[in-house]
Amino acid sequence: MAGERVFITGASSGIGAALARRYAERGATLGLTARRGDLLHALARALPGNHHVYTVDVADAGAMAAAGADFIARAGLPDIVVANAGISVGTLTGEREDLAAFRRVFETNVLGMVHTFHPFIEPLRQARRGRLVGIASVAGIRGLPGAGAYSASKAATIAYLESLRVELHGSGVRVVTLAPGYIATPMTAANPYPMPFLLPVEAAARRFVAAIDAGGSYTVIPWQMGIVAKLLRLLPNPVFDALFAHAGRKPRETT
Ligand SMILES: NC(=O)c1ccc[n+]([C@@H]2O[C@H](COP(=O)([O-])OP(=O)(O)OC[C@H]3O[C@@H](n4cnc5c(N)ncnc54)[C@H](OP(=O)(O)O)[C@@H]3O)[C@@H](O)[C@H]2O)c1
Repeated sequence: MAGERVFITGASSGIGAALARRYAERGATLGLTARRGDLLHALARALPGNHHVYTVDVADAGAMAAAGADFIARAGLPDIVVANAGISVGTLTGEREDLAAFRRVFETNVLGMVHTFHPFIEPLRQARRGRLVGIASVAGIRGLPGAGAYSASKAATIAYLESLRVELHGSGVRVVTLAPGYIATPMTAANPYPMPFLLPVEAAARRFVAAIDAGGSYTVIPWQMGIVAKLLRLLPNPVFDALFAHAGRKPRETT
């Protein structure tokens, strides 16, 4: 919508870039953030409208606060903030070289989300409007083998977003948790296992935007994965363990 302002992290690739395209098509002014500034500038040039690029690491709280403040000063208070930046890598707790990967995954996926929302909370609360959107994952519903860092980080985002939602209850600021299943992006391109209900990224972005417009508190996309997520939650531990013990695993960085 013309006049709409949307701030998106992880906009250099995949879901973030597809969301940027959809919001720009409907006339929004965007704040685009990621570490690869060249990709962000190329995207901003290709989109209709005038947009603001921030080449920042979401793990850097100070840089994220500065980016948020600059966007508010230049474009105005955002209507929507999408904390989408994330990384996924296989990890094993017994492997010393994976300890750094655990830290990076948590700093990016969990603290990065906190850093993204922080500069906007008080201004949005005062304005009594706005949507804070967190991209979680179905991988956060149960602990997946070989993905301890990623599953735990996404479980943390689901709980964190719920805390934030309740904290902001009645303030006029909505918190929207989106839990994608499998979406075709660079993150999933090399997954060595079947990915049921895999969605092309542009179709996924359409559904994300519709879910954000609807403003529901928690949505799994695609809906078929929502049913799988509900069933996963209900599975008793012995059944879950037997089913997933030999499931395909995300490659570790060192292998
Ligand atoms: N694809 C799926 O099936 C799927 C399923 C469930 C959830 N998700 C979640 O959806 C989100 C987007 O994933 P995607 O599939 O679109 O993956 P992607 O194509 O790999 O994009 C990830 C984005 O996050 C950014 N990013 C990563 N680390 C960052 C950091 N430290 N600071 C700033 N930006 C950072 C990347 O930009 P730079 O590298 O330029 O910094 C990139 O723009 C992630 O949170 C992911 O966990 C994806």
